[in-house]
Amino acid sequence: MKKIGILFGKENSFPQAFVDRVNSKNEKDITAEFVKVDKVFQGEPLDYAVIIDRISQDVPFYRSMLKNAAICGTAVINNPFWWSADEKFFNNALALKIGVPVPKTVLLPSKEHPDDTSEESFRNLSYPFNWPAIFKYVGFPAYMKPFDGGGWKEVYKMHSSEDFFNKYNGTKQYVMMLQEEIIFTEYFRCYCIGGKYVKIMQYEPRNPFHERYVTEGATTDQKLLNTIKKYVIALNQYLGYDFNTVEFAVRDGIPYAIDFCNPAPDADVNSVGAENFEWVVETAATYAIERAKKQKPGQDNLIWGEYVKSSSTGSPLVSIQAPVKTAKAKPSTKAKTTGKAKTEKTVDENTGIKEA
Ligand SMILES: Nc1ncnc2c1ncn2[C@@H]1O[C@H](COP(=O)(O)OP(=O)(O)O)[C@@H](O)[C@H]1O
Ligand SMILES: [Mg+2]
Repeated sequence: MKKIGILFGKENSFPQAFVDRVNSKNEKDITAEFVKVDKVFQGEPLDYAVIIDRISQDVPFYRSMLKNAAICGTAVINNPFWWSADEKFFNNALALKIGVPVPKTVLLPSKEHPDDTSEESFRNLSYPFNWPAIFKYVGFPAYMKPFDGGGWKEVYKMHSSEDFFNKYNGTKQYVMMLQEEIIFTEYFRCYCIGGKYVKIMQYEPRNPFHERYVTEGATTDQKLLNTIKKYVIALNQYLGYDFNTVEFAVRDGIPYAIDFCNPAPDADVNSVGAENFEWVVETAATYAIERAKKQKPGQDNLIWGEYVKSSSTGSPLVSIQAPVKTAKAKPSTKAKTTGKAKTEKTVDENTGIKEA
């Protein structure tokens, strides 16, 4: 019997619905339950073929436990190593390199010194920082937000350099990014599961929380929706996330990726609404079963993104010599984690994104 476990924190609606959905499918030798752990010994497996991780971003003990489970063969969704490594600023750089538009963004040193550091620890930085160049590049209005944040915490909109310094001075030890505001006509939040299943949800971030998912008057611009889908898949395949959301703000018809580092995205029925909730529950259950069937005990069963794979095989992130073809929306669903590097891939003529 292969077990699928879900590891979660305060959330209520999604974990139970997920477990019930997997079990209702009556897959032979596959069952789902809430993860239960009463000891964690080095190099010893947990009794799960698959674990969906919804909480290790807030519980460092769980992150280490999941890495230990992974080396013993559990397919952890999402890869706990990658999730420990990336953050929003790096992800923006990756997006740029693969041709997905992102707002102009700069990284800022924390206003206060991190614990156990002093001025001496920062002798490689020039003070004052080159604020005129930074403000010229980003422009105003701008957003300032933590490089690894979520849930709208410490996200500020600002209109001038005075406004910036007032807010920046209060940001303590947070590492912040300053980002161009995309003044948008439309905004989308997209679920992506397994790097291939995509649900595009039109979203109105200016509405109160429970009214943000637009149910009426959603765009019918198929070309825009196709571009968004292609970007969602590319970002998740390059990052190597199995479960993530990507937000886009559309300006002059161009979707800019705003927030795509959400590996434990809100899936509560009260915020996403009944229809989106049903999609997430069904798709997560289907995908977890796929992973359980593929899981091979005792070996690495994690998904690694194209960024890591191309680095480890010494191949370019995006091949510039590849034959140019019009994009096909279909992603590769079988990214190999081992084997010979693919040096020739079809590249979308507009974005430079490799097609599988
Ligand atoms: N560059 C931007 N342009 C326009 N709106 C933005 C931008 N950055 C953030 N926002 C707004 O602020 C909200 C929260 O920012 P986001 O980057 O999603 O942070 P979090 O990860 O905390 O959700 C977004 O949903 C969006 O409404
Ligand atoms: Mg967000």
